[in-house]
Amino acid sequence: MAGIYIEEVARHVGQEVTIQGWLRHRRSSGKIHFLIVRDGTGDLQAVVSKATVGEEQFAESAKLTQESSLVLTGTLRQDARAQGGYELDVTQIRPLQIAEPFPIQPKEHGVGFLMEHRHLWLRSSRQHAVLRIRHEIIRACRNFFDERGFILVDAPIFTPNACEGTTTLFQTDYFDEKAYLTQSGQLYGEATAAAFGRVYCFGPTFRAEKSKTRRHLTEFWMVEPEVAFAELADMMALAEAFLSHIVEQVLATRRAELAVLERDVSKLERIKPPFPRITYEEAVARLQQKGNPIQSGDDFGGDEETLLSNEFDRPAIVHRYPAAIKAFYMQSDPLRPDLALCMDVLAPEGYGEIIGGGQRIHEHDKLVARIHEHKLPEEAFRWYLDIRKFGSVPHAGFGMGIERAVAWICGLEHVRETIPFPRMLYKLYP
Ligand code: 4AD
Ligand code: MG
Repeated sequence: MAGIYIEEVARHVGQEVTIQGWLRHRRSSGKIHFLIVRDGTGDLQAVVSKATVGEEQFAESAKLTQESSLVLTGTLRQDARAQGGYELDVTQIRPLQIAEPFPIQPKEHGVGFLMEHRHLWLRSSRQHAVLRIRHEIIRACRNFFDERGFILVDAPIFTPNACEGTTTLFQTDYFDEKAYLTQSGQLYGEATAAAFGRVYCFGPTFRAEKSKTRRHLTEFWMVEPEVAFAELADMMALAEAFLSHIVEQVLATRRAELAVLERDVSKLERIKPPFPRITYEEAVARLQQKGNPIQSGDDFGGDEETLLSNEFDRPAIVHRYPAAIKAFYMQSDPLRPDLALCMDVLAPEGYGEIIGGGQRIHEHDKLVARIHEHKLPEEAFRWYLDIRKFGSVPHAGFGMGIERAVAWICGLEHVRETIPFPRMLYKLYP
């Protein structure tokens, strides 16, 4: 018999319903078992009394261990004392499988242990909250672009091109050729922007990140808009509207999950335009004032991003980095050719970069020269150069890493909890 979901109980008070789920917790006192059952949509307290279900089912219920699967039928009652405000008076209980001793107990486990049991850890209320917020963030990303006339045009995962430098490429055999796992869908986004005007792609991206940090995964999801006839300033405005929309939608729909995570929502309520815009050089000066040893021309590392992002109560847009420390495709500032027309958006509260993007080189010969300067194989970029031969226009875009956004919005210490099965340095199981 098909049951109802726990999230629907309010609509079924007084009715007999069936719930299918797993046991979180059992407390027994003589002739009554109090069960907390979860079904993925919520938790419900169920009361099994010997008088109602009879000797046999009552004895069966006593064998139910944590995470045993079961089907319950009973009458729903409103009860202010029960967790969630409702209670099920069970008339029939049917265990499906009695679970072996569950390895994750409500005591403190080390992160290594939890990561080894990630497939089971996902059942905890905390992981549940994080992944529901992740879902909402992804939905908000799609809504934002869909409502603004962007077309979803996804990029391939096998590619002959290095988009973000050659040091973090995963290489694989592709029949008689070598292929890389994509680092970013951007180059394909540029081709599709010339076909559709405003596009976005959204998919998994891969980087062989050899350092362990709280911000880096080797496999992460990126949403990347690309717009023909757009310039850097347009991307700053788009990123500002985009992040504001995401936070607003999460606040509107996921307050309960944010509460489970004890997230200070007042910090999220401040995420509204305008976002501060500062140049790279201003950022370096601010860092030096704080005693950071950075020199003009250096790239920012985790420490610099944390310092900078702690200075603002909303995301800060840092723009015009030295071209020398940025990717090959970045357009140069006509007033300062040594600077790139690019931006990083740094999330507040120390989270650092969540968005990177900017304006692309649209002149053919200039792009060929850059490809050579970066020692990239021109042949693999023939198709990409074509975009500059057939009606080339200024264009720009950006990419946001979903996991970084989830970590920030949820207030998590590390990106490992932001994706169901994280992939990191030496971390492939489960
Ligand atoms: O700044 P990145 O490298 O920019 C690009 O890939 C551009 N091609 C995007 C574009 O313009 N279409 O990466 C963009 C974002 C970062 O800001 C960060 O949020 C995320 O991707 N990111 C990572 N997230 C988790 N783990 C990693 N190793 C990441 N590397 C980048
Ligand atoms: Mg970047």
